[in-house]
Amino acid sequence: MEWGMANRMAKLIQSDGHVLFLPVDHGYFQGPTRKLEEPRKTIEPLLPYADALFITRGVLRSSVDPDKAKPIILRVSGGTSVIGKDLANEGITTSMEEAIRLNVSAVGISIFVGSEYEKESLLNLSKLVDEGEKYGIPVMAVTAVGKELEKRDARYLGLACRIAAELGARVVKTYWCENFDRVSRGCPVPVVMAGGPQVDTELEIFEFVYDGMQKGAIGVNLGRNVWQNDFPVAMIKALRAIIHQGANPKEAQDLFSSEKEVKKKP
Ligand code: 5RP
Repeated sequence: MEWGMANRMAKLIQSDGHVLFLPVDHGYFQGPTRKLEEPRKTIEPLLPYADALFITRGVLRSSVDPDKAKPIILRVSGGTSVIGKDLANEGITTSMEEAIRLNVSAVGISIFVGSEYEKESLLNLSKLVDEGEKYGIPVMAVTAVGKELEKRDARYLGLACRIAAELGARVVKTYWCENFDRVSRGCPVPVVMAGGPQVDTELEIFEFVYDGMQKGAIGVNLGRNVWQNDFPVAMIKALRAIIHQGANPKEAQDLFSSEKEVKKKP
């Protein structure tokens, strides 16, 4: 691997081989998402516990101080919105020159396998990989499902992840699902898990993250279930314990509860 590419990958993937990416890119199609209305306020307290931020150039420039930043994965696909016709109809929104100017560690793009825009999104990924490889910038492919959350099973996600890897993604972001080992086994590059919409209990998150890690994921790219939680710092610390310290779901839950109590104290 070329030095620049290897150096960027090493900034993202920590020495234990694991990652905790914090995505705050949701506004690129959802607008002011709940609890991300003022990105700086959401990001600042969580930044010390994240290995990297997944973010658009607009929020990066406006809401993250360059002297305090963590490695950046720049969201470079978009062009659609939740109120538009089809979320899958994305294009590349940001040039590689801009990514270099922003000194990012990777760029991220969604693919929409099985959608009407499957081909366009896969060709966008391929084009981005060609550009990224030229400059030593890894591409993270996001296996997006748009509003069709029910698509998240091992057969579909395994297919989408494998295609992303075949087209040259250096990392693939997907969802956790039952039999996650089928997804990770079939994907020859590292796989990270997103969280999806906020769920009812923290334990559900700890359980799926733990399960996915046992079954081949290298970590998470998990947003709403961190920063939409009433205790986001306690949440990210508990996730760090699973990802980087080998904690099990119960230990993560205990840590979350004790951190929550600390936060509650006047
Ligand atoms: C949004 C994304 C997010 O980065 C991804 O979905 C992870 O965030 P969450 O855990 O909130 O699902 O790609 O377009």
